[in-house]
Amino acid sequence: MVNNTNTRCDLMLFGALGDLAQRKLFPALYQLERAGLLAQGSRILAIARTEATTAEVREQLLEKLRHHVKDSEFDAEVANTFLQRVDYQLLDFTDPEGYGALREWRDEPNNELIVYMATPPSMYGVIARNMKATSCCNEKTRVVVEKPIGHDLESSRVINDELGEVYNENQLFRIDHYLGKETVQNLIALRFANNLFASQWDQNHISHVEITVAESVGIEGRWGYFDQAGQIRDMIQNHLLQLLCLIAMDPPADLSADSIRDEKVKVLKALKRITPDMMDRYVVRGQYTAGTSNGKPVPGYLEEEGANKGSATETFVALKAEIDNWRWSGVPFYIRTGKRLPEKLSQIIIHFKPAPHYIFDPDQKHLANNKLIIRLQPDEGMALKILTKDQGLDKGMRLRQGPLELTFSETFETERIPDAYERLLWEVMKGNQYLFVRRDEVEYAWRWVDEIIANWRDSGEPPKRYAAGTWGPVASIAMITRDGRSWYEDA
Ligand code: BG6
Repeated sequence: MVNNTNTRCDLMLFGALGDLAQRKLFPALYQLERAGLLAQGSRILAIARTEATTAEVREQLLEKLRHHVKDSEFDAEVANTFLQRVDYQLLDFTDPEGYGALREWRDEPNNELIVYMATPPSMYGVIARNMKATSCCNEKTRVVVEKPIGHDLESSRVINDELGEVYNENQLFRIDHYLGKETVQNLIALRFANNLFASQWDQNHISHVEITVAESVGIEGRWGYFDQAGQIRDMIQNHLLQLLCLIAMDPPADLSADSIRDEKVKVLKALKRITPDMMDRYVVRGQYTAGTSNGKPVPGYLEEEGANKGSATETFVALKAEIDNWRWSGVPFYIRTGKRLPEKLSQIIIHFKPAPHYIFDPDQKHLANNKLIIRLQPDEGMALKILTKDQGLDKGMRLRQGPLELTFSETFETERIPDAYERLLWEVMKGNQYLFVRRDEVEYAWRWVDEIIANWRDSGEPPKRYAAGTWGPVASIAMITRDGRSWYEDA
């Protein structure tokens, strides 16, 4: 069903007045309009449960676009053309009667139809069933659903089954927005277009891998959702495991969705289980207390608005993942992610093993390994830390570590890097599933994460505290130090 042409399509957006739609989806669609990628005649039906007219919704969207689109990228004429595509429909998602209006909205039933469910996952099944019962969709309809798919393996199966009763797997586009980030896609180019790395990418040459996804923000009014999820469900089960898969997977036979997803699934299946006796050494769970963020005092997690003061939900996780296969045997993947850390930073560090025989000054031995630093955000780019001779007559054969740098914005004079949702929406319009997550990926990821959550529950241990504005509990540093290593910090 891959369609590379800019064909006309109808987009039905459930949850159109919600935070995700207003903050991410409409701005992304606006950018596609600005780039001339929305075909003439393509239309958007914004669907929500609030009483409003199309004119009112367009006005509200205009205001949000002004807010969420950079001034330099906001063009009133483009916004106006874009908003003319948008109609609004009030709907109680659970009431099949209301869906007749959706069918009527489609003046040309043969147009491509995309249904985007920007709603809580508990709504996916109901919407799917009602769409089918009222003949609002068919076997060509593409359906986009957001994470989280459930809160554990069992609930994700229920949701996937409900969707599966109405749609085939090749109609489903499960979003993990990290896969839409340009630099994340670049991992595939880096690994499989450069034989230099391809031949070095295994336990013979790599000692360990670090993946850090740090955020300086706290809970930002999402306490209700976040407290039920916690950092492991919100970030590790999806974004961080996807990054791990892209780093660890074997070369796919081609770039098709199934070839890439098959390889990712093999990695998820090979993740070593973290059993109760391993928890102390392999997993650190933290919760932030009051501290500072960008120089300003901020409250602790339990003092945020709407907080349940006794919550044991984690806002930080550091863990050591191991992959039981030939390529990665003995290579730990140290992963950490948290809210209210000192900065917003996502990066992957590949630590290569030192040369087999070391001949330079013994006191510089700690320098003797190459590192590949892949910066996902901010300052998207890569740096390969290599060793060279320090210049100067007095330096003898002293070594110096320096980077071979590639900062995308400077090197390629990239005007702007598209937001993940722009890329993902565009791929859905083309019917290309390779940046979306298949059912088995979601389920294997839950299987691994569920065991860690169960271990926490059984141990009854509360999360370790860390002050907002620090890099998490000291136990996270201890975890990696025990292995004779440290979290990478750029000097
Ligand atoms: C979302 C999580 O999926 O990703 C949020 O639910 C998190 O809690 C966000 O803040 C981070 O995304 P990004 O693109 O800002 O790194």
